[in-house]
Amino acid sequence: MEIIFLFVVLSFVTNVVIGQPFFPQPEQVHLSYAGNPTEMVVTWVTQSATNSSIVQFGIAKPTQAIIGKQELFKDGGSEARLFYIHRVTLFHLTPGMSYKYRCGSELGWSDMYSFTAMQSGTNWSPRFALYGDMGNTNAKSVSWLQQEAQDGNIDAILHVGDFAYNMDTDNARTGDEFMRQIEPIAAYVPYMTCVGNHENAYNFSNYRKRFTMPGGDGDGLFFSFDIGPVHIISFSTEVYYYVQYGWMQIVNQYKWLEEDLKKANLPENRSKRPWIITMGHRPMYCSNSDDPPLCTNVENPVRIGIPYIKAFGLEDLFYKYGVDLQFYAHEHSYERLYPVYNRTVCNGTSSDPYKNPRAPVHIVTGSAGCTEGEDPFIPLGLPWSAFRSDDYGYTRMRVVDDQKLYMEQVSVDKKGTVVDKVLITKEKHGMGLYDCHQGR
Ligand SMILES: *[C@@H]1O[C@H](CO)[C@@H](O)[C@H](O)[C@H]1NC(C)=O
Ligand SMILES: *[C@@H]1O[C@H](CO)[C@@H](O)[C@H](O)[C@H]1NC(C)=O
Ligand SMILES: *[C@@H]1O[C@H](CO)[C@@H](O)[C@H](O)[C@H]1NC(C)=O
Ligand SMILES: *[C@@H]1O[C@H](CO)[C@@H](O)[C@H](O)[C@H]1NC(C)=O
Ligand SMILES: *[C@@H]1O[C@H](CO)[C@@H](O)[C@H](O)[C@H]1NC(C)=O
Repeated sequence: MEIIFLFVVLSFVTNVVIGQPFFPQPEQVHLSYAGNPTEMVVTWVTQSATNSSIVQFGIAKPTQAIIGKQELFKDGGSEARLFYIHRVTLFHLTPGMSYKYRCGSELGWSDMYSFTAMQSGTNWSPRFALYGDMGNTNAKSVSWLQQEAQDGNIDAILHVGDFAYNMDTDNARTGDEFMRQIEPIAAYVPYMTCVGNHENAYNFSNYRKRFTMPGGDGDGLFFSFDIGPVHIISFSTEVYYYVQYGWMQIVNQYKWLEEDLKKANLPENRSKRPWIITMGHRPMYCSNSDDPPLCTNVENPVRIGIPYIKAFGLEDLFYKYGVDLQFYAHEHSYERLYPVYNRTVCNGTSSDPYKNPRAPVHIVTGSAGCTEGEDPFIPLGLPWSAFRSDDYGYTRMRVVDDQKLYMEQVSVDKKGTVVDKVLITKEKHGMGLYDCHQGR
């Protein structure tokens, strides 16, 4: 840490003294949320080192300032490009209050942005926009999401893996460009993420460093946070696929997930925050025709665990601890599933599959738009396929109260039409409540 700090100071001084190209202007401004309504994290990039990292903020105008830190980022590409990532945590915010802010230093300030501090307590209905697989080219949903964020329709974004295509491309310039492209969204509402396969270069370094996610492994690969009555868990499905980066990561993540789920299930926690929602990139279930190795794989490693030994699979873990809803992406389409466990559909009631579902509900939402286009489906789907669409678009979710969760799919192709809706109702949440056995 001290060495990096020294490097930052030296590069600042040499740039200024020697007169090398000097770019202290903030860019790629984005927010993240660590689960405390009195705090908000601001992250941005400068192409040159600066002498400070400041956020000026306030209600009518910026009257307060908080100083943070900058970190040197060295890209793994042939140019070994360097840039500087600044992070500042704002604190003592008034929950629910709107703030203006700008970030940077005396050498250059960002535009003035605004955000609303998260509401406190668990007795309110947070609203989210959710999607995966959004690239720099063909980012069909960006303009829609910008309106959602700036119009105050959502409290947070959940981006379920695969960014930019790819953040490391062109010596990480594609990553820079993507982060600039989402600034009109992410500078206004917290942009919460999970890692996807497109982030794999150099051991996921562009993903780990560009975002600032709370707790967990400290690197954004697994972590959790609370918003209102919801506990949200983000994890890496990629530890099961990129084992060359260390298979122990499967075990470490699994252990952390189990501890986190245990804590979230302590009676005092689960009664206040009954909804447990996970997000991971590669799905356990899907019915796309272009991806047979994954969609027809009965031994899906995320679902059942490490091949052959079948340990550290997540389906059993999430079932046991009563996870309500699981979001995935990776397939460039939208698919809503009936409640499912062990490849068995376990509808809640015969008239309403989503009333007291007897297994977790999975959603695959990876159609925000990227250079690879859309993914087609196998005809008819699989027994658990409830609704499928390969329009470009994104998911909206509103956690109404401790019993109701509403979700809908927005088609960007159909100019914002809602093409799917579902209301999940649950009288009880908790560990060991599911009873999805074959033959029942
Ligand atoms: C940073 O540099 C600017 C310009 O040289 C100067 O005005 C400012 O006081 C410096 N800030 C700090 C914290 O050193
Ligand atoms: C990759 O990064 C993870 C932390 O995110 C670390 O545990 C692992 O050892 C790294 N692997 C390699 C091969 O560097
Ligand atoms: C749950 O409860 C424990 C002890 O009361 C606490 O330490 C923990 O942070 C709580 N929250 C979550 C989300 O686990
Ligand atoms: C899961 O399904 C398989 C194959 O149908 C069955 O043999 C197994 O007992 C089931 N496991 C559980 C835990 O229900
Ligand atoms: C689940 O519910 C759907 C919609 O009502 C129905 O079509 C399907 O047959 C049900 N599946 C089972 C296994 O009950």
